[in-house]
Amino acid sequence: MTRVLTGIQPSGALHLGNYFGAIKQMKDLQDSSDLFIFIANYHALTSLKDGKALRENTIDCAINFLSLGIDPSKATFYAQSDVKEVLELYWILSGYTPMGLLERAHSYKDKVSKGIAANHSLFSYPVLMAADILLYDAKIVPVGKDQIQHVEMTRDIAIKFNNDFGDILTIPEFKVAEDVQTVPGLDGAKMSKSYGNTIDIFNTEKQLKKTIGKIVTDSTALEDAKDWTTCNVFSLAKLYLDQAGQIELQKRYEKGGEGYGHFKMHLKELIWDYYAEAREKREHYLNNTDEVYDILSDGAKKASKIAKAKMEIIRDAVGIYR
Ligand code: ADP
Ligand code: TRP
Repeated sequence: MTRVLTGIQPSGALHLGNYFGAIKQMKDLQDSSDLFIFIANYHALTSLKDGKALRENTIDCAINFLSLGIDPSKATFYAQSDVKEVLELYWILSGYTPMGLLERAHSYKDKVSKGIAANHSLFSYPVLMAADILLYDAKIVPVGKDQIQHVEMTRDIAIKFNNDFGDILTIPEFKVAEDVQTVPGLDGAKMSKSYGNTIDIFNTEKQLKKTIGKIVTDSTALEDAKDWTTCNVFSLAKLYLDQAGQIELQKRYEKGGEGYGHFKMHLKELIWDYYAEAREKREHYLNNTDEVYDILSDGAKKASKIAKAKMEIIRDAVGIYR
């Protein structure tokens, strides 16, 4: 089976866009590939300088992904910091990373232009990402659009290394989910934490209702027919409906006689029901965090085995040490 690897930044609450744009694909991939999925907590250090918060975010992230269906019996699921070899490889790869390559990184330039202080970890972030990928001989790396360049840099670094030492590193390819539509937020723009327009997956029912109430709609009167093709409420409901359900809802829009409040109520029910099982699992893991730490340790054991074997080959090639 093809080895597919992806990392997730432990950065707080997950929203519907994250689910349909990333998590759902990971669930499919764990059935069809040798999926490695890890929590990028070393990467998170570049932006989070609060130890307590990072520790909490890391376990929270594990709980959320397990609750939403990442299955540790199918995927190798671990925390980045549990496999220290990645830091050794990061250093070795630094020697194959031209300054110019890093200077061209959009993500770094964006962060600095937003006023984030430029420091070395922010700058060398793509080299650590290359180590994440190359340590495990990953062939495919599923990422969001903003991360494509980082995978391209990984390829450049690996090719340079292989030029000196032969075909030791596997050259990876990125994969951006093509058929995933952008999930709209409350205002119709792309749902994103940075726009403050999200609907979070693990809201309470009351919070969910309140948030859905904020979805922007037009002012068509209750009795009039409504345009489902431009309605944000419909776009979101569609994600949770099969073909027949979508057609039924379209008819209700076209018929008139129902206000947006009715459609919002319907959307709330759809979302609430869809994540019922995930909520139950989350409750369980929140009350049994030891289980979660055990799952991460088991994942790290599987990952370590591969990382250790790979590092022996790499050390041997570069001459560290005997
Ligand atoms: P945010 O924009 O909220 O900060 P992230 O950048 O952390 O989200 O995204 C994590 C993953 O979720 C990425 O794979 C990204 O492509 C996906 N994603 C985020 N928002 C959406 C959206 N509105 N529609 C589809 N996918 C999304
Ligand atoms: N940089 C990625 C992000 O912010 C997370 C990440 C770290 C990653 N290492 C990776 C993704 C390796 C894919 C492969 O989303």
